[in-house]
This record gives sequence, C-alpha cells and structure tokens, in this order.
Amino acid sequence: MSTFPDQFRLDGRTALVTGSARGLGWEMARALAEAGARVLLHGRTPERIAPGLETMRRAGFACDALAFEMADRAAMQAEMARGGPIDILIHNVGERDRRPFADIGADDFARLVDVDLTAAHALVRLVVPGMIERRWGRLILVTSIVADLAVPGAVSYIAAKGGLSAFSRALAAEFGATGITSNALSPGFFATETNAALLASPAGESQRLRCPAKRWAEPSEIAGAALFLASPAASYVNGHTLTVDGGVSATYLA
Ligand SMILES: NC(=O)c1ccc[n+]([C@@H]2O[C@H](COP(=O)([O-])OP(=O)(O)OC[C@H]3O[C@@H](n4cnc5c(N)ncnc54)[C@H](OP(=O)(O)O)[C@@H]3O)[C@@H](O)[C@H]2O)c1
Repeated sequence: MSTFPDQFRLDGRTALVTGSARGLGWEMARALAEAGARVLLHGRTPERIAPGLETMRRAGFACDALAFEMADRAAMQAEMARGGPIDILIHNVGERDRRPFADIGADDFARLVDVDLTAAHALVRLVVPGMIERRWGRLILVTSIVADLAVPGAVSYIAAKGGLSAFSRALAAEFGATGITSNALSPGFFATETNAALLASPAGESQRLRCPAKRWAEPSEIAGAALFLASPAASYVNGHTLTVDGGVSATYLA
C-alpha cells in the first residue's frame, strides 16, 4: 500500500470524462490529468474540444479527444475503440429540459432519458470488459441532488438522474468482486456556463439562500470529489453517492 498523498495519484491510468469541453467535466478532467492520468476529453465535435485539448497539451499533460454525440451509438462505439482501454469512466454529460410537464411530450422525454441515462449503459458496456480483464476500474456517474429532491419543471431530467443514481448502485452490486467500483457524484448548485441565466435570476438567488454555504459552488469545487472517487484511496468506496452541494440536501431550512 502506497503512502498518502501517493494514493491520490493516477499515473498509468486512462480516464474518459464525457462532456469535458467545459463546465464540471472540464474541471474534473483537469484534476485527473494533474494527478497523472492520461485523459480523454469528450465533446460533441472536435472543434468544441480543441481549446481544452490545446490548454492541456501546453501544460504537458497526456491527453487526447473523443468526439461524439451521446445519442449516436455508432459514433460512440467507433470513437471509444479509437481511444483504447479506459480505466476510469466519469460519465458527466447531462442535458436539461427545464420546461413544464405539459410541454414535454413522449419523444422529448424519451430523448432526454436516452442521452442522460441509457447512453450511460452503452458506455459502461464498452469499458467494463477491459476493466474486468485488468481487475481495476472506476465508474463514476454524475447525477444531481434532484435525483432525490425533486423540483417543479424538470420531470425528464429528474427521472433520468434518479435512474442514473440507481444504475450506479446496481453496477456496484454487479461488479463488486471484479476490482471495479461504481459510485455516483451528485452536484448541487454550480455556477457553470449552462446555469448562467438561472444564477442571475430570482430563482437562482433563492437557491443561493437555500444553501447553508450561502453561495453557488465554483465549477472547480467538484474536482476533489471526482479525484477521490477515481483514486486508489477510494478502493473500498463502492455503491456510494458523494454529494457536493454545500449542505443543501442535508438541511430542511438554511
Ligand atoms: N451545474 C450544476 O449546477 C449541476 C447540478 C447538478 C448536476 N449537474 C450535472 O453535472 C453535469 C455537468 O454539468 P455542467 O453544468 O457542467 O454541464 P454543461 O455545462 O451543460 O456541460 C456539459 C458538457 O456535456 C456536453 N454535452 C451535452 N449534451 C451532450 C450530448 N448529447 N452529446 C455529447 N456531449 C454533450 C456539452 O457539450 P457542448 O459543449 O458541445 O454543449 C458540454 O461539454 C451534468 O450531468 C449535469 O446534469 C450539474
């Protein structure tokens, strides 16, 4: 057993972080690269990933990029084959649909669940055989506090994240004896680009006050939790949901 802080090093491991062109995905990818992993950035197109890839390469990190739309399973399979064996999968892509229930038809619902939940199953199927062979793997699915604490105006997203959370535990049970761990990472209110309009709105202000920390999180504040779950230090953490929300889900009033 290595000593601390070596147990947080990821040298020799390859990590894929989906949706890492920006936002939380970018922050987690950067942390894993700093810990020594070879990181595969992912986005919809090579153009979207190019700036991040360039930044990482300039910093001297081992990295590459995979480009595919989550809904396009053929492209997913081809790009994943090109990326080679993956030791750490952080599945971070999660589309939102913030419309009221009445506006979300069956096709909208099915599409979001496909991208946010079913695509995770497809990715796990692609990476798990190699992890089992090497007897080491980390599956980290990015859920949300809404998986357990519902809000109005996001039915498909909440259903998908709840499913993803349960899927993560199911994987922990399924693969527990193979050297693979599966955990969920559950963010609260993070000030990412996607949330810019919400953050500036009255709803965003009430979310800030609802949080015991009395602030939204900086995107970089997700990175330590992701690195922990990915690291050798978390070898016996399996089937857990690590919540990073400044205390929102632990409190009734703040
Ligand atoms: N931010 C928060 O407060 C918060 C709270 C709870 C949970 N989460 C979860 O944390 C994760 C990241 O959130 P974020 O705010 O950082 O997200 P984001 O800013 O929306 O970034 C998501 C990334 O995923 C990519 N992406 C989205 N849909 C895709 C698709 N269909 N195929 C391929 N790539 C796709 C985006 O690519 P493009 O750059 O091409 O758009 C982007 O790089 C999500 O799963 C979200 O549900 C976030």
